[in-house]
Amino acid sequence: MKKKLVVLSGAGISAESGIKTFRDSGGLWEGHDVMEVASPEGWRRNQELVQDFYNQRRKQARDCQPNEAHLKLASLEEHFDVTIITQNVDDLHEKAGSSSVIHLHGELTKAQSSIDPNLVYELDHWEIKKGDKCEKGSQLRPFIVWFGEPVPKMDEAIQLAKQADIFIVIGTSLQVYPAAGLIDYVPKQARNFLIDPNSPGSGLRRDMVYIQKKATEGMKTLEELLLG
Ligand code: APR
Repeated sequence: MKKKLVVLSGAGISAESGIKTFRDSGGLWEGHDVMEVASPEGWRRNQELVQDFYNQRRKQARDCQPNEAHLKLASLEEHFDVTIITQNVDDLHEKAGSSSVIHLHGELTKAQSSIDPNLVYELDHWEIKKGDKCEKGSQLRPFIVWFGEPVPKMDEAIQLAKQADIFIVIGTSLQVYPAAGLIDYVPKQARNFLIDPNSPGSGLRRDMVYIQKKATEGMKTLEELLLG
């Protein structure tokens, strides 16, 4: 039976595909205060701004391609039973061919009802417009887990972390909970790796092999360590 390899990825893995990270640019996200565009309060205050912001992100992500790090993770499926838990809302893991991807913070390619979170729709275009409604008649919003909102996929992610033989953290500052807390569920005997050019400080567990490199280079090193 193949060993279980679980990945927790964050914005850093998509940086080399041209998608900006959140916290590398002085707290601003494409020129916006994060709370302005990624919170229920922000949505209530200015729906147009938030909708436009995610429309632009969706348009941008549509043209982005997976990089070597996404591709290498997908090819590890030949050797391991791989599940990717990502905080990213882009679809670069899927584009790279990964078959099991859990999006903790939602997906840009989908829209959600603003009154019933269970109503989620696949989008075949980049724009959600004012007046686009769910079947219950409410405005569609981006399918994104904003600050202060529940993370429905968290329980599933915890169960996966608990079963990991190998756990890889890649490209996340480990500052946002509950996602960052997943590393605490990884069994003691599992092999742990962290790939990030910048040390996460307190997020670094003692038993982690720290590969201080960008995602694409770091994945090459990891592949050598895992496959020899
Ligand atoms: N390769 C790997 N890691 C990189 C690269 C790269 N080329 N470039 C930057 N990084 C690292 C940074 O050093 C940092 O540790 O990626 C991490 C990005 O951290 P954040 O910007 O905080 O992104 P993330 O951890 O994914 O944020 C978590 O916060 O805003 C919310 O919901 C949003 O999912 C997001 C969550």
